[in-house]
Amino acid sequence: MKFLISWLLLISCSHLGYGRLERIRLTKFDSLRRQLIGSRTPMEKYLKHNLQTKYNLQTKYNLIGGPVREPLTNCLDMEYYGEITIGTPPQKFKVLFDTGSSNLWVPSVKCRGCGAWHNQYNSSKSSTYKPNGTSIEIVYETGSMMGFLSTDNVAIGNIVAKNQTFAEATREPGMTFVAASFDGILGMGYSEIAVDGVQTIFDALVEQKVIDKPIFSFYFNRNTSDSTGGELILGGSDPKYYKGSFSYEKVTLKGYWQFNMDSVVIKGGSKFCPNGCEAIADTGTSLIVGPTQDIIAINMELGAKLIEDSVSQYAFECDKVASLPYVGFILGGKAFYLSAEDYVLKVSQWSSETMICLSGFQVLDSPLTIGPLWILGDVFLGKFYTEFDKGADRVGFAEAV
Ligand SMILES: *[C@@H]1O[C@H](CO)[C@@H](O)[C@H](O)[C@H]1NC(C)=O
Ligand SMILES: *[C@@H]1O[C@H](CO)[C@@H](O)[C@H](O)[C@H]1NC(C)=O
Ligand SMILES: *[C@@H]1O[C@H](CO)[C@@H](O)[C@H](O)[C@H]1NC(C)=O
Ligand SMILES: *[C@@H]1O[C@H](CO)[C@@H](O)[C@H](O)[C@H]1NC(C)=O
Repeated sequence: MKFLISWLLLISCSHLGYGRLERIRLTKFDSLRRQLIGSRTPMEKYLKHNLQTKYNLQTKYNLIGGPVREPLTNCLDMEYYGEITIGTPPQKFKVLFDTGSSNLWVPSVKCRGCGAWHNQYNSSKSSTYKPNGTSIEIVYETGSMMGFLSTDNVAIGNIVAKNQTFAEATREPGMTFVAASFDGILGMGYSEIAVDGVQTIFDALVEQKVIDKPIFSFYFNRNTSDSTGGELILGGSDPKYYKGSFSYEKVTLKGYWQFNMDSVVIKGGSKFCPNGCEAIADTGTSLIVGPTQDIIAINMELGAKLIEDSVSQYAFECDKVASLPYVGFILGGKAFYLSAEDYVLKVSQWSSETMICLSGFQVLDSPLTIGPLWILGDVFLGKFYTEFDKGADRVGFAEAV
């Protein structure tokens, strides 16, 4: 049994004629981050400090228990899932495609408390099932997934990874997952960080030669009024989703999709991590997360204020958002700019019907933090169509259309 910390703080089929690209439609659903601004008890105040990542928040929520009374709906902070099938005949599952972890797990029919509305894998119903039985535990920011390994055929769209080992969860990592619209997680990080040394699905697809190129890419539709969530493309990327060409960053450490970032700049203002820092592209995280000092400084310079009673959650006055500067992420000498529209999350508070303009820059104050890592989540990946190139070990960014 091994542990792994995953950032997983978030997360698509049709066939294309050329180059055997497999398209998996991504569906989006409202954020899991049910927030509690305006509540009163000390515990709830404590919870308010942890807007940073939905799973992290939810862990604390689990530890504490008790109802979340002031849910916020969040129009920008969306999650994206797609459908896979496991076994013969196929059993369907909705999974988050997470580049910040490397295992596949789905709830097991043997799980008690996994949320009966979730699809649960029943190995007795599959003729291609092969038992394994090794126990597994994956530590997420919100809690642990526990279960055991099994092997079966896993289909993503029209392509199948045969004899794929995955985890049957007998315990889900926190209420977030129990309540989530998706059933499980499909990790798309490197095999190097796969718990129990299980080969990742993507590596299996490449090895079994069912995709032409060892490349996948994500397009996230950020239009909140459009029901199409986006697309995961296996085997390449689709020029219809981006302008210009990709700028590639070499993967510096295989595990997450990690690379070096030159700096972060506020246009017309300060520069952060001036000597470079490490960053990851993580479809499993909604926001942009970074080292505490830098994130605080960015929020202050942009004029975001701490939300009352919070130590880590910043918000803008909504009428000032239009005049906020661009924030640039300098990668390989090229600036990737986010506008305020990209990095401010407009959140409506149901009870009072007031809008809150949350900052998309989040402190990562988790005890699970490994080093001063920047996490470029969906706020960034939505603006920049991202290609994950396993063959050349590089990540490519191009402006999404
Ligand atoms: C799993 O499938 C078997 C075979 O169809 C069935 O007998 C069993 O009741 C199922 N288990 C559950 C918990 O649904
Ligand atoms: C999967 O396992 C079966 C039986 O163990 C074996 O016959 C088959 O060759 C394996 N397929 C792959 C692609 O490994
Ligand atoms: C279970 O799967 C793991 C990871 O693929 C493998 O190392 C191990 O040998 C398997 N064990 C059995 C009993 O099949
Ligand atoms: C967003 O999607 C809606 C519904 O499909 C469409 O009417 C609208 O034009 C889109 N907005 C933008 C900015 O593309």
